[in-house]
Amino acid sequence: MCGIIGYIGKREACPILIEGLGKLEYRGYDSAGVAVMNSGKTDVRKCMGKLRALEDAIRNDIPRGSLGIGHTRWATHGGPSDANSHPHTDCAGNITVVHNGIIENYMELKEALTAEGHTFVSETDTEVAAHLIEKFYDGNISEAVCRAAKMLQGSFALVVICNGEPDRIVAARRYSPLVVGLGKGENFLSSDVGSFLSYTRDAVYIDDDTAVTVTADSYSVTDFDGNPIRKEVHKIEWDASMAERGGYEHFMLKEIHEQPRALRETMRGRLSPDSGNVELPGLNLSDEYIKSVDRIRMIACGTAYHASMAAKYAIESLCKIHVDIDFASELRYREPLIDERTLAVVISQSGETLDTIVGLREAKENGAKVVSITNVVGSMAAREADGVLYTYAGPEIAVASTKAYTTQLMVLYMLALYIARIRGTVAPEDAKKYCEELWDLPEKAEIILNDYKAVREAANRYYCFNGFLYMARGINLASALEGALKIKEISYMHAEGYAAGEMKHGPIAMIDPTFATIAMCVKSKTYDKMLSNIREVKARAGEVIAIATNGDELIESYADKVIYIPETLEVFSPVLVAIPLQLMAYQVAKNRGPAIDQPRNLAKTVTVE
Ligand code: AGP
Repeated sequence: MCGIIGYIGKREACPILIEGLGKLEYRGYDSAGVAVMNSGKTDVRKCMGKLRALEDAIRNDIPRGSLGIGHTRWATHGGPSDANSHPHTDCAGNITVVHNGIIENYMELKEALTAEGHTFVSETDTEVAAHLIEKFYDGNISEAVCRAAKMLQGSFALVVICNGEPDRIVAARRYSPLVVGLGKGENFLSSDVGSFLSYTRDAVYIDDDTAVTVTADSYSVTDFDGNPIRKEVHKIEWDASMAERGGYEHFMLKEIHEQPRALRETMRGRLSPDSGNVELPGLNLSDEYIKSVDRIRMIACGTAYHASMAAKYAIESLCKIHVDIDFASELRYREPLIDERTLAVVISQSGETLDTIVGLREAKENGAKVVSITNVVGSMAAREADGVLYTYAGPEIAVASTKAYTTQLMVLYMLALYIARIRGTVAPEDAKKYCEELWDLPEKAEIILNDYKAVREAANRYYCFNGFLYMARGINLASALEGALKIKEISYMHAEGYAAGEMKHGPIAMIDPTFATIAMCVKSKTYDKMLSNIREVKARAGEVIAIATNGDELIESYADKVIYIPETLEVFSPVLVAIPLQLMAYQVAKNRGPAIDQPRNLAKTVTVE
């Protein structure tokens, strides 16, 4: 997820671009750049680091001109570097592009363009778009952008300027957000309205597979074949900070709602429901090595550890490989059994958690190959591993991890299916079924997010209780621990996740009318056992909220409150179970009042032991 911006009008563009990028930094901050056109030439300034670094670099030599584009980057293809920073240009520097999204077919396009004599200076997918537009440019930049857009697969919001047409900016989008800001004698393009709200509240939202050509006093929207499309103008009521959060009150709520998109981006270019195939570029492990692995050790902290708990069930079931999971902070003080036939899987949203990095190094020192699963391109976990699988969740600003967790699960499920195919432990027809079910998860997540009245009602009843017990069996024990962690870290209430079968060995003594129990009771092979556990809690006057599968009527006679989610395979259910638990934690915290995005005593990345 990156931030893109464009300006055309009567004022100096650069200050407006820099100001707008400052409001887009929450979308990415690996590098930043601007391109300003003056007298038919485009001056590109860009550098690695946060926007501040770019401001320092241009302070004494600000590019002049009233037409320009800008970008703040969250790296996906090619680590953070000056060369990989946007904007990117074509061979002659006549066409300049900024981009938000992932161009899946960039490698094949890059090979074809290279064969035609184009030269590339970066590792990015975006630079391919600049050269593709150059290939099609014959005096009409709008047409060239549309022709190029039709050849791109994946997600993109492209903003393009051309030296030969200094009176316009052209943009095109598919899946990544793009909005036009309509000023007086000036116009704006951006990833979101926050970047131009101080100049205008009139906005035109651009839809998928459409392009827009913007001049200082006009805009025209077409499909990629040039057919005109009428668009209505929206009056934006948000203030700038609300715009940065997409209109949500907190980043956490925004990021909970981003999960369908994040899951789709994480699957994009990797999972094919039609073929039942999973491809994992970047894994960097040979088939022979994968067949030789006799043990997988997963190393993580916090929420990432909960993802590894769920993955243990999935990998052992699908791949028939023994899986150990370790808190990274514990691993280094044990003498773990790790050798050349161990595959270490390190999970870390930030890729910088010190305990986890130390665990990664310990595994390498003991001969293991290491694969990192991280959300940050170029992070330590990415750099020090033998292979890396990125989650494409975009920056996660809230301390409480949400979209990072569900996209970690998605990557782990894809890894399990990839390994299972190579080791022959899952039949092709079953692999196809699994892929189809994973492919449908984002849509099922949207169903949950479109109506969570039951979650709000539960939160409004239980937020003043003495504490919460999350109980589950099987793979959803991970969900129970994750749900408890969410509510602990943002509402400061006591909560714990527990194996439901263990309740009778102690925890059930806690149950009384002031203690709420949340039971993961989705369709599973332990469903009947969970009903019995719910009955045990009720027999001690405890109140029970059940997370259950749509259509389950029996649960209504057991639980005090039922929160339904769409049906999915039990092995994948943690992705959907997580969402009502995240929303529950959010609503309880909102009712109790603490600072949800930055809870007390916590940091987003723990770089100390
Ligand atoms: C999760 O909500 C917490 N913020 C915390 O447990 C976090 O998951 C943990 O610190 C690990 O962070 P990482 O994924 O960046 O390594």
